[in-house]
Amino acid sequence: MPPKEPVRKRDLVLKKLRQIVRTRAGNAEVANNEYFEFFKEVPITHATVRRLLLRYTRKYPIWRNIEGYEDLFKRHGLPILTNLITEKMFSSNEKRIRFLDVGAGEGNLKDDLMTMFGDRRISYYGIDMIEHRNPDKSVKVNHFDLMYDSLPNNSFDFIVAGLSIPYVTDKFKALENMINSLRVNGTVAITGFGALRIDGDLRTVLSPLYDEFQPKNKLENAKWLIDKLKESNPFLEIQITENGGVLIKKVKEGKAKMPFKFNGATLRLGSLKASLDSNAALDVIVSNYSYTGQ
Ligand SMILES: C[S@@+](CC[C@H](N)C(=O)[O-])C[C@H]1O[C@@H](n2cnc3c(N)ncnc32)[C@H](O)[C@@H]1O
Repeated sequence: MPPKEPVRKRDLVLKKLRQIVRTRAGNAEVANNEYFEFFKEVPITHATVRRLLLRYTRKYPIWRNIEGYEDLFKRHGLPILTNLITEKMFSSNEKRIRFLDVGAGEGNLKDDLMTMFGDRRISYYGIDMIEHRNPDKSVKVNHFDLMYDSLPNNSFDFIVAGLSIPYVTDKFKALENMINSLRVNGTVAITGFGALRIDGDLRTVLSPLYDEFQPKNKLENAKWLIDKLKESNPFLEIQITENGGVLIKKVKEGKAKMPFKFNGATLRLGSLKASLDSNAALDVIVSNYSYTGQ
């Protein structure tokens, strides 16, 4: 169960910030920078993210189909999703690959995958922490919170997280959960690991959206992150793209270990059009970590 939090004060703070954002966003003359200076980061917990997300997804219930996912993969610098799935089918010893859609929304991907590959080649499982109403469809998306519920170990050949990790406060906990749930030779593909800052000597951000976090060479810090992850998890192959895509393959048996301590998350209300009624506000969750390895 998520820890209980003192919501009242937080709600008041968010309400106030929302009013300020609305007023300021009305003034198109104000430069983006000013917003970043103006809005400080406010601590945010998983429970608050959940509440905001619930409201947002009720208001804008748009879920991607396969074309949407292909576009997402392209934008995040990842290979074509259907090619990755096809390769997996050919390289797997299993007759039918087990596919997990993390943050699946209403599970729109399922029908397209079934049409393309057929239910003899692929089994679709969708999970989402919010139970989205889906009256017309047969797709069942299970109510599941990647932060608090453990996925079954060694269960999936392909895991996709399409724009769901930016909403997760402790991203490495979610990553650990997904990696442990892969079968050997399984792959996890993530679009948008989100704004991530590793406190200490290095700061790393994988999102292309927040320039002020970016090192000159965006991939330099990503390389550092890959090295540290691989030191603790030598059974993984890891790719991180310049545009915030992550592709991880489990090449051998192993239990994931994340060499980072979670120091909480903050919400940034900065971009010109940001308001708590729009997705933009949730996209600027910054997760803070310290490196605990050597
Ligand atoms: C922007 S939507 C993307 C939905 C879908 N993947 C798509 O591309 O159409 C993000 C989804 O991630 C889900 N999500 C966020 N945090 C989650 C968590 N901790 N566990 C499970 N699902 C989560 C949200 O409820 C939401 O449905």
